[in-house]
Amino acid sequence: MAKAVDLIIFGASGDLTQRKILPSLGHLLSRDGQNVRVIGVGRSPKSPEDFRALVKQASENDQLTATAEWVHLDYADPSTFAPLKEIVAGPPTTIFYLATPAETFSEILAGLTVSGLVAKEDITRRIVVEKPLGHNLASARKLNAQLAAAFQEEQIFRIDHYLAKDTVQNVMALRFSNSLFEPVWNRTLIETILITVAEEEGIGKRAGYYDQAGAVRDIIQNHVLQLLALITMEPPTTFDAEYVRRAKRAALRAMSPIDPGMAVRGQYEGYLDEEGVDPDSRRETYAAMRVAIENWRWDGVPIFVRTGKALTRRVTEVVIKLRDAPMLRIAGRRQRGIPTLIVIRIQPDEGISIRIGAKRPGTRFEMVPAGMRLDYARLTKTALPEAYENVLSEVLAGGHSAFPGAEEIELSWEIVDPLIRAWEAEGHPETYAVGSWGPRAADDMVAAGGGGRWIVSGDEPGTL
Ligand code: BG6
Repeated sequence: MAKAVDLIIFGASGDLTQRKILPSLGHLLSRDGQNVRVIGVGRSPKSPEDFRALVKQASENDQLTATAEWVHLDYADPSTFAPLKEIVAGPPTTIFYLATPAETFSEILAGLTVSGLVAKEDITRRIVVEKPLGHNLASARKLNAQLAAAFQEEQIFRIDHYLAKDTVQNVMALRFSNSLFEPVWNRTLIETILITVAEEEGIGKRAGYYDQAGAVRDIIQNHVLQLLALITMEPPTTFDAEYVRRAKRAALRAMSPIDPGMAVRGQYEGYLDEEGVDPDSRRETYAAMRVAIENWRWDGVPIFVRTGKALTRRVTEVVIKLRDAPMLRIAGRRQRGIPTLIVIRIQPDEGISIRIGAKRPGTRFEMVPAGMRLDYARLTKTALPEAYENVLSEVLAGGHSAFPGAEEIELSWEIVDPLIRAWEAEGHPETYAVGSWGPRAADDMVAAGGGGRWIVSGDEPGTL
């Protein structure tokens, strides 16, 4: 049996633990057979039996269920951490996972330190913090400083589960292990980059968190900017975590703070009636914006990103649109080419497709858009792992390649902070219909900004 690990989850009766952490852990352990004990921590009392029932239901793993414990404490009062200390005394690796709202991180970190549960010298203790880290640049800096005071960098795992998605990790493989793509990956040949992170669902039961956060803090500051950094960074020296972080930092540093004049926000119809939402809330559930990268590779390339809840369908995709071929004369006439699209589909139907122009079979010389596609799931016989499975597997192994570094997170806040501030000073956002693609103004912004139009593969001729 592998070495024992104690996984202490703060916020263990919450949505994230139930929907993501425990199911992924259950799956991972039934595959890899690690010896993990879960200790749930929360602010309300619970019997071990009640918690075990939750663990059983979410993880479907008997070993996790049988050994699970519950500790109830007051995050703000370090003296209440003592019972936790008694329980975790034993195994070689102890992981503290903060699956609680970011505003509780500071007090929990203080409690862990003061009670002696963690110490900087003790590298058997690891800390995992969920995104978003902080609610703006200043608070993120504070939290990073607090983490750095209590832990060494190798003990810290800042989650951005997008980095743990296989399809996101494949961006590096695509760009840097194929000589086909990298030569065109620059301002000379790329006309525009469009990123869509669309969700069909509304906010569900997460008003308590979401109505404070909004789309920019929830998705753009972390998932989208990390994805964009991987798409636009220079080749890292090696694929080791530190070199990849370095390359991403340089990319993020070249991104200008978002210009509120090149951004559109929206709120879905009915958001104000969602349970727990402030009836007068001005929070955005949709955000679209232009990101400008001022460096040698990307200067002047229009890059647009958008995200939203309650949109037409769930799709996360990066579309790279290449410039038209310089000249196409067919049957004595100059014709418009069909721009090549490289589409990286993060989810669902994970894959990569390329839309090209081809000759329609027949006696006439006529061009048609045509697609070629790599279906990512076909590269493996097993199901693609959930991102959280990869996250947990790396935390257990002590690897860092799927985690952003402290500075990347701060640089990302620097990029979005001016936009957040501008929007917080404004009135109600425009509403958009549930099931639409969001406010019209976002289409106008892309057209006016040289990005053409938003593209989602499947809706676009020739894409697959
Ligand atoms: C989370 C956000 O980080 O990512 C959620 O807090 C969002 O609002 C989720 O729904 C999307 O993740 P995925 O993996 O389903 O794209």
